[in-house]
Amino acid sequence: MTTDSATIDSLDFPTPAYAVADEVADLLFREARTIGAFTDQPVSDDELAAVYDLLKWGPTAMNTSPLRLLVVRSDEGKARLAAHAAEGNRDRILAAPLTLVVAADPAFHRLLPVLAPHRASMVDALEAQPEQRAGMARQNTLIQTGYLITALRATGLDAGPIGGVDTTGIDAEFFAESGWQSQLVVLVGHRDGVGTPHPRAARLAWSDVSATV
Ligand SMILES: Cc1cc2nc3c(=O)[nH]c(=O)nc-3n(C[C@H](O)[C@H](O)[C@H](O)COP(=O)(O)O)c2cc1C
Repeated sequence: MTTDSATIDSLDFPTPAYAVADEVADLLFREARTIGAFTDQPVSDDELAAVYDLLKWGPTAMNTSPLRLLVVRSDEGKARLAAHAAEGNRDRILAAPLTLVVAADPAFHRLLPVLAPHRASMVDALEAQPEQRAGMARQNTLIQTGYLITALRATGLDAGPIGGVDTTGIDAEFFAESGWQSQLVVLVGHRDGVGTPHPRAARLAWSDVSATV
């Protein structure tokens, strides 16, 4: 397969036998869209805690669980965050009920005695390897971000991930003390109408993205 010969998947979904009900597959994946326009309906801290109570069970390497979240819901916080977003993303951050800054904690290893008791001996080794730790933190945080988006949908919320932000600026603005490293932000709320001006784009087919040996 090359990119030139990709057979783009149609929007007519086949209905094989999944282990979850069709409505669940629709809610989490097939009908879920990336949302940029939200109603004024607030999102409570209890809802966010419920989202986390799902996403936390998704697997990470050695159970490191390095994802950290900054909840930006005040007008002042939104303005501080929007100042570090690409122009096209600023207004959406200001307008959304809240935005989550997804960050990786490179000091995740200090929690290994709790999160991975069988690997607690790794604490000292990782302490001496800051670059490896940062890489592990980033990789596993991005994996957890997928769980986050899916858990938001499972909680009846809509999500709008945005990578077009200045992560260095966000880190200086919000994480100078904690040392967390921002990766992207996710708008959160309830979609206003369809919540996006774009029609759903096609996806690549299984035959285009897979190889078997
Ligand atoms: C990691 C990530 C970063 C993204 N960054 C941006 C962004 O900076 N600006 C934007 O308008 N959309 C951004 N998007 C939205 C994608 O364009 C969108 O999720 C994709 O086109 C699929 O849209 P759909 O879910 O409506 O099918 C981002 C999505 C992801 C997952």
